[in-house]
Amino acid sequence: MLVPMARIAFVGLGAMGAPMASHLAAAGHQLTVYNRTRAKADIWLRQQEASTVRQHEASASAATPADAAAGAELVMLCVGNDDDVRAVVHGDDGVLATMAVGSILVDHTTTSAGLAREVATAGGERGVGFVDAPVSGGQAGAEAGRLTVMCGADSQADFERAHAVIDAYAVKCERMGPAGAGQLTKMVNQICIAGVVQGLAEAVDFTLRAGLDPAQVFDVIGKGAAQSWQMDNRAATMAAGEFDFGFAVQWMRKDLGFCLAEAHRLGGRLPLTALVDQLYAQVEQRGGKRWDTSSLVQLLREP
Ligand SMILES: NC(=O)c1ccc[n+]([C@@H]2O[C@H](COP(=O)([O-])OP(=O)(O)OC[C@H]3O[C@@H](n4cnc5c(N)ncnc54)[C@H](OP(=O)(O)O)[C@@H]3O)[C@@H](O)[C@H]2O)c1
Repeated sequence: MLVPMARIAFVGLGAMGAPMASHLAAAGHQLTVYNRTRAKADIWLRQQEASTVRQHEASASAATPADAAAGAELVMLCVGNDDDVRAVVHGDDGVLATMAVGSILVDHTTTSAGLAREVATAGGERGVGFVDAPVSGGQAGAEAGRLTVMCGADSQADFERAHAVIDAYAVKCERMGPAGAGQLTKMVNQICIAGVVQGLAEAVDFTLRAGLDPAQVFDVIGKGAAQSWQMDNRAATMAAGEFDFGFAVQWMRKDLGFCLAEAHRLGGRLPLTALVDQLYAQVEQRGGKRWDTSSLVQLLREP
């Protein structure tokens, strides 16, 4: 599909945001970026200048989120948590201060569903559309342009405009319902992952204690019903005790907090998710806030 060039602001050039913004620039969109730590925006701009992919328009960086958003048709966010989104959306320096009527705010941050509805309402009062669009696929997926994007939007037309540009870094991008539905779907994703990672951690520890070769074991059982993304991508590093990469435990605890609060609100129970959240709290107590989520195995290897 031929996508017309759009003027896009991108706020938050972290592990996920930086490669996503690069894909948008490579797709020919005109980008203005903002990052709280200015040096990261400077590094990102230098990488764009050195890129071998020919871009139609040079990208630029702005001093505030509001400056980045001025004149943009779409504003994409990828920051940390609910309060971080509020910090870049509201106030004199926030993106809503300058976003034009008819423009669209897309939030790739993983947040609560309540925050998504709150920002959708604030945008709606100014004639700005909103799409909550959390992602799955990790930093590797962002770099490869192969993310899964789960969207919530009150307007199908707003979703379709966002979808057309999100395609630059997505293998799958779908509207799951009204504002907040993307975040609820991401919660389902994290509930699935929490149980699978703990199961894999126990399997890796058992394999090593039994004196089996983990490479051989996971190659063989990975062809059967036990296969998972976590097994394919994390079993070897778990067996080797390597956790200094990937999806940080602190982000997973934030996400599991959203899941537990939402389940409580819905009158449901998440006993396994609650247990895994407590195990992650123990990993944090060992200094593992920034370790990959697969570090659950360390609690078993070094009790
Ligand atoms: N990493 C993953 O594998 C992954 C996968 C799926 C979803 N996610 C979600 O994606 C989001 C971003 O994750 P990440 O791994 O890219 O995080 P990250 O590397 O820590 O980057 C966070 C970005 O947000 C900015 N930021 C944070 N708080 C801010 C504030 N109050 N005001 C302005 N800017 C702020 C940071 O700016 P500074 O540079 O100044 O710190 C940085 O650019 C999170 O919600 C996470 O849960 C991550």
